[in-house]
Amino acid sequence: MKYNSLSLDTTIDPQQRAWVEVFPDAIRENTQLVKTLLAENCLLMAVVKADGYGHGAGTVAEAALEGGASNLGVATLQEALDLRKLGITCPILILGNLVNFKDLDACLNWDLIPTLSSTKEALLCQKIAESYGKQFTIHIKVDTGMTRLGCDISAVQILINLIDTLENLVLGGIYSHLAMADGFRHGQSEIITSLQKQRFKSLLSNLKPARTSLCRHLANSAGTFRDKALHFDMVRVGLALYGYNPFEDFLDNCSLKPALAVRARITLIRDVPAQTGISYGHNFITKRSSRLAVVGIGYADGVSRALSGKISVLINGCFYPQVGSITMDQLVIDITENKDIRIGDVVTLLGSDRGVSITPYEWSQACGSIPWEILCSFKYRLPRVVI
Ligand SMILES: Cc1ncc(COP(=O)(O)O)c(C=O)c1O
Repeated sequence: MKYNSLSLDTTIDPQQRAWVEVFPDAIRENTQLVKTLLAENCLLMAVVKADGYGHGAGTVAEAALEGGASNLGVATLQEALDLRKLGITCPILILGNLVNFKDLDACLNWDLIPTLSSTKEALLCQKIAESYGKQFTIHIKVDTGMTRLGCDISAVQILINLIDTLENLVLGGIYSHLAMADGFRHGQSEIITSLQKQRFKSLLSNLKPARTSLCRHLANSAGTFRDKALHFDMVRVGLALYGYNPFEDFLDNCSLKPALAVRARITLIRDVPAQTGISYGHNFITKRSSRLAVVGIGYADGVSRALSGKISVLINGCFYPQVGSITMDQLVIDITENKDIRIGDVVTLLGSDRGVSITPYEWSQACGSIPWEILCSFKYRLPRVVI
């Protein structure tokens, strides 16, 4: 069989099966709201890694910059290049570690800021910058207690001293990352966060006083909400810009607006008798004659199998339970209570529908995850529809 070019060009309605709706206005307003919380002269970096936490990095970056962010943070070189290719010109910090010549070379040439954790990377950056006769602005990362990326705090002065001797390197920033700021604001979370703050402050107080242009940053969303003393010269905010407060105990009085909704359509409606096993493994058996709807979204789209039987969805503002195992491309809901639901009706899995909403917190609690992971899990198969 031959397919003519017309059929190959067929465009599919992005809302035909399942999709993610993104609300840039919410991101802009959340950014404005976070800005009002910041210490005086503190800059805001919008963290748009992982495709803007699944919302679409370009959409998020533009909205956040409109809302008052001045810098962007990404995890990888490719994420940074994608933003530059969209014409975004603001400072972009790569939060991940770049260790080879080619990557750091691209960084310099695309005016991106790498994070350095060691003298080896500093020497490599100097070599590259020298070969072009350019200045290379870098930030160094210090480990104050996260025990992941970053120079050991005992070795940071050696790294700074070395950078000072390298003519083509400009130390544009120094930063660290909080390990437990999003825990409840007491106990271990308070102790560790204070300790990290103290370590960071004492490190800064030992630096030469002349470093006026140095941007010092420590706080993520939780650090930003927690304490102005964690703000320094810039905060790096992700989750809050997407509309979620990292403190669950804060949720009720928080006016952040979720910037995403996950929706899908009903593709089939079935009436089955009591004692019918549903989906793989028959993990759910109907207790009564039931009306079931098949929804065209599954774990290959980012609805974790671990949520099977533990979530509800919304149709026209009413909740319906999801039943049986979530499969790769489909899941089943019980709509016995409503005989008016039709094939093609829109189901909201996350986000709001007629004033009622389902948040990533509920999914996190259901499957032992965290909102960050839930948001990042929506896959390429779900078109992003910017509203
Ligand atoms: C280094 C760094 N800074 C800031 C953030 C933003 O964190 P949040 O989304 O909690 O605001 C992240 C996210 O993981 C990060 O890795």
